[in-house]
Amino acid sequence: MSLYRNTVWFLKGMREYTRSGYEAAAKQFVAEDLEVNVAGRSYMITGANSGIGKATALAIAKKGGTIHLVCRNKERAEEAKRELIANSGNEGISVHLVDMSSPKDIWAFAEKFKTEHKLNVLINNAGCMVNNRELTEDGLEKNFATNTLGTYILTAALLPAMEKEDDARVITVSSGGMLVQKLNVLDLQFETGTFDGTMAYAQNKRQQVILTEHWAKSHPKIHFSIMHPGWADTPAVRSSMPDFYEKMKNRLRTEEQGADTVVWLAISSAATKHPSGLFFQDRKPVSTHLPFAFTHSSPEDEEKLLEVLREFSQRFAPATSNL
Ligand SMILES: NC(=O)c1ccc[n+]([C@@H]2O[C@H](COP(=O)([O-])OP(=O)(O)OC[C@H]3O[C@@H](n4cnc5c(N)ncnc54)[C@H](OP(=O)(O)O)[C@@H]3O)[C@@H](O)[C@H]2O)c1
Repeated sequence: MSLYRNTVWFLKGMREYTRSGYEAAAKQFVAEDLEVNVAGRSYMITGANSGIGKATALAIAKKGGTIHLVCRNKERAEEAKRELIANSGNEGISVHLVDMSSPKDIWAFAEKFKTEHKLNVLINNAGCMVNNRELTEDGLEKNFATNTLGTYILTAALLPAMEKEDDARVITVSSGGMLVQKLNVLDLQFETGTFDGTMAYAQNKRQQVILTEHWAKSHPKIHFSIMHPGWADTPAVRSSMPDFYEKMKNRLRTEEQGADTVVWLAISSAATKHPSGLFFQDRKPVSTHLPFAFTHSSPEDEEKLLEVLREFSQRFAPATSNL
């Protein structure tokens, strides 16, 4: 952890990630970018029962898209579906129950989904910041399992089907918090030292950036982007960062403001005019590194991360899959 990085990042956040930061950035937005009809296109959104995921689902449902909500809790998911249908008038919204920290669940879901539905846009939004070191039933550290491995397996499993679709896109909701972290492949599951959930989360979000850059190179037919939603008032912020929430609650973005760039990346034609693999904040590509922060990773470390993820993915894959 670096005091320099954390200080520079926090000052940047106060200026850019808050509600006033959004309002300032929004003055440059082109309203027509979102004036589209996406009827007939299919969108999958993970973690769509609350916060940024639900706000994204509502905005896309209002534009006519078919929406697949991927959630872990049946009650919360069905409640969100009812609300989304009532508020959008769009009946094309379905629920899929998947625990994104369970590689086997994700694999089983993705393999079945591909045989039943088409998918134009995948939005990797589900995320967590677990503040104590907890293991899943597979013995995986929970933040890593959900944020990095879950995102990796779902995306990798769906890419072959998405490659056949027109204007296919993958958007991953990362966090500006990743700016304080350099990729660390020596301890991907935070087994050594004192566990710090905020830093584990930021490390996972850095890993998502590296995955996106990798996919953009390896899958040129699909448009990949990764983004920071700003600091938005959502259940995750309230429960995982109570001190931050108390201090910042009057400055946080709304869920809709947090979702704005996700929606723009998912439906606008302006988004895909940018090259694939970039990191966005408020509808603009921005740097994945703070100045003088020494957070660039080596190609060898990036390959190591991919190697570990491939290994885990294969370990839990059904016999018929071919990653
Ligand atoms: N809000 C911010 O300021 C902020 C800033 C930077 C990045 N982000 C990112 O934005 C994304 C959305 O978060 P949010 O702030 O909108 O919070 P949120 O409303 O709490 O949404 C998080 C979603 O992820 C789901 N989720 C967590 N673990 C899961 C699992 N194992 N399987 C399936 N779903 C799971 C949650 O489901 P449950 O309801 O079942 O828990 C919930 O639907 C996250 O990736 C987060 O890291 C948010």
